[in-house]
Amino acid sequence: MRGRERVIAAFKSWDTKNTGLISQEHLAAALKSLDLTQGEVDSLMSAAGAEPNGGPIEYARFVDWLDSGGSIPNACKEYKFFVGANWKCGLEDVIEVDEFIGKINEKWMAKRESLGDVEVCVFPPYVFLDRIRRKLNREMQVGSQNAWDAASGFKCTGVVSAAMLKSVGCKWVLLGHSDRRNVLGETNELLAEKVKRCLDSGLCVNLTIGETLAVREAGNAINTLLEQLTTATASVPADDWGRIAVAYEPVWAIGEGATPCSPEETQRVHSALRACISERAGEPAAKKCRLLYTGSVNEKNASQYASLPDVDGFVVGRAGLDADKLMAVCQTLGQPAAQ
Ligand code: PGA
Repeated sequence: MRGRERVIAAFKSWDTKNTGLISQEHLAAALKSLDLTQGEVDSLMSAAGAEPNGGPIEYARFVDWLDSGGSIPNACKEYKFFVGANWKCGLEDVIEVDEFIGKINEKWMAKRESLGDVEVCVFPPYVFLDRIRRKLNREMQVGSQNAWDAASGFKCTGVVSAAMLKSVGCKWVLLGHSDRRNVLGETNELLAEKVKRCLDSGLCVNLTIGETLAVREAGNAINTLLEQLTTATASVPADDWGRIAVAYEPVWAIGEGATPCSPEETQRVHSALRACISERAGEPAAKKCRLLYTGSVNEKNASQYASLPDVDGFVVGRAGLDADKLMAVCQTLGQPAAQ
């Protein structure tokens, strides 16, 4: 859960009669329950309008303050927002790669103060991973677009294992992209194996799920997504959900000429995914897992999704191959919702 929602939920948990008011004593207890230091509690109390010997606080006022840019201490957050750039085969030459990484580094340095808490990860093809990890600013992460088999001792021609990816500094692995499901025939069962082995090897997993247009038109979108999610994560222990980001990528919304899923439908799907994780792995797991929207996200439309309660970031394709657009997408996260 985001810091903003966590703080508001803590307030509301004391307001059992739904009055919109919270006593100062309860406000302090609510904030302390978020593991804040006394200094952080004091500063949030005063932002909420608490005065010595004052009366109850209206939490709507506090929410207004948050929405107009008030900042939440890091301790409130269970995770950062996430933006992944899936390059696919978008850059095929080391000179182009070096130039692009130079641009990303430059834009990152220029913008990072205004970006808030965003974890940025680029997902290049295998062959560039080592090179990019050496050149990319260390504040950003590198991830692989695939991992075949992480079983120790599994030695097969052409295989890149999770251990190899770890050794060149990858943090994330993208699994389950529709290109791999629909073009290369990867099944939910195979993905379940890959997810387990990548987690066991210490990598974080960006699991992509998504329905085709035919499935959506037949009214089976949510069932298909839940099936993909639950099968691929069947053996993920509750404690490991902080190392998983689930990317909802409607297949019909990807690529040139496609229309992204509407923000309303995206929120409906993400909230069903969160509820499913909560039911199967418990609420803490559901709060730790980041839910990302993927499919024609760009610098122009990202803010419509960034403010949705169950969107914790994005994976971008085309926009991830332009440093300005990538940073503009990052900038929409953690910003107050546009009025
Ligand atoms: P797109 O691609 O952002 O260019 O639509 C998304 C993806 O396939 O990961």
